[in-house]
Amino acid sequence: MKKRNVAGQFAAGPRGWLYFDANSIGAMPKIAPRRMAKLLAEWQALRRRGWSESDWLDAPRRLGDKLAPVIGAKKGSVIVGDSTSVNLHKALAMAAGLRRGRRVIVSEAGTFPTDLYVAQQVARRYRCRLVLVKDPSELDAAIDRRTAVVYLSHTDYRTGHRHDLRAVTRRAHARGALTVWDLSHSAGAVATDLASGDADFAVGCGYKYLCGGPGAPGYLYVAPRLQARVEPAFQGWFGHAEPMAFEPRFRAARGIQRHAVGTPAVAGNVLFEAALDVFTRVNPAELFRKHAALSQLLISLVPEELILASPSDPHRRGGFVAFRHRQAEALVEELQARRVVASVRKPNIVRFGLSPLYHRETDVRELARRLHAMLD
Ligand SMILES: Cc1ncc(COP(=O)(O)O)c(C=O)c1O
Repeated sequence: MKKRNVAGQFAAGPRGWLYFDANSIGAMPKIAPRRMAKLLAEWQALRRRGWSESDWLDAPRRLGDKLAPVIGAKKGSVIVGDSTSVNLHKALAMAAGLRRGRRVIVSEAGTFPTDLYVAQQVARRYRCRLVLVKDPSELDAAIDRRTAVVYLSHTDYRTGHRHDLRAVTRRAHARGALTVWDLSHSAGAVATDLASGDADFAVGCGYKYLCGGPGAPGYLYVAPRLQARVEPAFQGWFGHAEPMAFEPRFRAARGIQRHAVGTPAVAGNVLFEAALDVFTRVNPAELFRKHAALSQLLISLVPEELILASPSDPHRRGGFVAFRHRQAEALVEELQARRVVASVRKPNIVRFGLSPLYHRETDVRELARRLHAMLD
C-alpha cells in the first residue's frame, strides 16, 4: 500500500503549542465535528426510526473490522463497545472459564490499577490465586502448569516497556495457559500482532493513540479459533442471535457479536469511526516504522538530565517514551508554561506520547529545542 501522510487530517491545537499527550487522549480528526453535526441534525429532525437503520446497530462490528488491521487482527475478531475495564472483565472471565480447574492468574504488580482491580475480582470468582511478578524478567518462571491465564498490559503505563507478545503467548500456550492482553498504550502507535502472535484475548482504549475522542468506547478481541467455544461473559440482548425477535431465552449470536451486551454508544461510535477512517488510509507497518523513528529521534535529542526510563530498543517500547527526572512534576508544569503538553506519573516519570498519525519530525525537534531552552 502506498504511504500517505495524514498529519493534516488532525486538529493541531492552538498555534505554537506542542501536544505530546497522545497516551492520554489522541488528537481530533478534523472530520469529527462534521460527522457529529450530522448525527445531531438527524436527532434534531427526529427522522430516524429508532433502531431500524442498521448503521447504528452494526457499528460495533463495523468499527471492529476497521480497527482489526491496526492491531494485527483478522476481520470478524474485534468488537467495539463498553469501556476497557468492562472488556477486561469479559476477557479475563472468559479465559479463566476456559481454563477452569487451573488455579493461577499471572500478572504484574505494576500493571494499571483497573487491570489489577478486575483481576482481583475475577480471581476470587474463579478461585484462582493472583501471582504478580515485579519485573518482566520474572514472567517466564512464573508461568507453569498451574497457570490458567497470563494477563498483561502489552505496554507498561509508567515505563513504556512493551512485552514480546509472541514469545509470552508461546510460553503460555506451551504450559497450557491462555493470554489476555491490554493494548491501551500500544494500539495505533506500535505493532501488536494479535493474529500472527496467536493471542487469545485482547482489549484496549479507543481514546489514546486510536484518537477515538473523549471517553471513546473500548474494544474486545477474541481469537477466531476460540469464538465458537466461548460463551459471552455478560449476556445481553445485543449479543443475542436475533435481538429484535425479543425471545425470552438467550441464544448467543455467531462470532464476535455475541460479546456485545447492550445498546451501542452511537455518539461515541461516530467519533471513533471518524478516526478509524483515517487509519484505513494508511499502511499500519509504515505507521509503526514512523513511530520507531520519531521515538529514536526524541531519545537522541533530549537533554541529558532526562534519563531514559523506557527500553532503548524501539521494539520493546510502546506508544510513549518515558524519562526519569528528579522534579518530574515541576518539569511538566514548566513545559506547560512553554506551550508543551506532556504527562507525569509520580514520583519521577515524564511521558511523551508519540502519535505516528500526526506527529512530524519537526514537532519532535521543536520539543527537544524547548526542553534544552528550559533546562539550560
Ligand atoms: C493500561 C490501561 N488500561 C485501562 C485504562 C482505562 O480503562 P477505562 O477506559 O475502562 O477507564 C487505562 C487508562 O489510562 C490504561 O492505561
